[in-house]
Amino acid sequence: MSTRDLKGLVLAGGKGTRLRPLTYTTAKQLVPVANKPILCYALDSLYQAGIRDIGIIISPETGEAVKGVATRWCPPDVHIQFILQDAPLGLAHAVKIARPYLGDSSFAMYLGDNLIQSELLTLVKGFKEDTADASILLKPVSNPEAFGIAELDGCERVVRLVEKPKHPKSNLALVGVYLFTPTIHHAIDSIQPSARGELEITDAIQYLLESGKTVKPYLIKGWWLDTGKKDDLLEANRIVLDAYCTDECKGSVDETSRIRGRAEIGANARIINSVIQGPVRIGDNCVIEDAYIGPYTSIGNGTIIRHTEIENSVLLENCRLLNIPDRIEQSLIGQECVITRAQGRPASTRFMLGDHSVLEIL
Ligand code: TTP
Repeated sequence: MSTRDLKGLVLAGGKGTRLRPLTYTTAKQLVPVANKPILCYALDSLYQAGIRDIGIIISPETGEAVKGVATRWCPPDVHIQFILQDAPLGLAHAVKIARPYLGDSSFAMYLGDNLIQSELLTLVKGFKEDTADASILLKPVSNPEAFGIAELDGCERVVRLVEKPKHPKSNLALVGVYLFTPTIHHAIDSIQPSARGELEITDAIQYLLESGKTVKPYLIKGWWLDTGKKDDLLEANRIVLDAYCTDECKGSVDETSRIRGRAEIGANARIINSVIQGPVRIGDNCVIEDAYIGPYTSIGNGTIIRHTEIENSVLLENCRLLNIPDRIEQSLIGQECVITRAQGRPASTRFMLGDHSVLEIL
């Protein structure tokens, strides 16, 4: 089998309840990390691994938006097929409905809200040469109770997978990237939905193990980020900015502003009388005036920030942050949010927050 024969399957359906309220209007896979939708990192990773046929699982609610982003991402030598999953009935269910697309191919399955530092090419090559029925990626974690965990024997073979174990025997968490041969389909046909009503991929892999198939573990050395929650997303933003932020400036910086460290400034963005402490990414058409933008901040296109200090945060497009007296930090702010303070008035606070919004006054 050549790597070109391996298909990709990206899971971009699901509910994204843990990232509400953003996910009421946006697919969680489209939330940006360092100003790029998370989904595009998964697609880049598959592309770099030589995979050119990619199926993307989409949901009825966010499918059109995912299609738009994936189509804009798609290089000319890639073929993308969108596969509608009517309801988020589990990761193994997503594979089940993708079966007509996958046919007899082996495939790399990638959870669309996960990011891994690129090692996929090596892995895919290894898998191609191996006889294993599946390969799982593992990463040691400090809180194994919160993850799907793999137990290995003394010979580095996977013997058991346990979902969120109360008394973990291993600290090796299952990363959201898997390599499967078509044997996984029979395993999926043989399992039942779990207590939460989902067809679990861990159950299907456990079935492979119990029927004597080989599941090869691969301990990844680079970072792995699961962006399903706010703090994970902010951490992903920090790590990606640290690794990839440049100092390219396509906008303008006036003489009274100071840029320290790496800052990427988008087209037509204007930095006026402000301090930027990188790594920072500022999108196109932003205005930053009399402001401080601190490290690990990503600012979406068209956002205006005046008389405000912000760091360690992700702002989506077209926000306005004006005259905020306290420094904003560790915040995730959705599209077109407006946060202002009237100047010269006694302080009082008014809110209009969507369902599941979180406002912390520290
Ligand atoms: P999860 O994070 O496990 O599930 P979720 O998206 O429903 O999120 P939450 O728990 O916050 O409600 O999903 C991992 C990835 O797989 C994510 O990109 C969504 C996708 N997915 C599907 O495409 N189909 C599914 O049936 C499920 C459960 C997830």
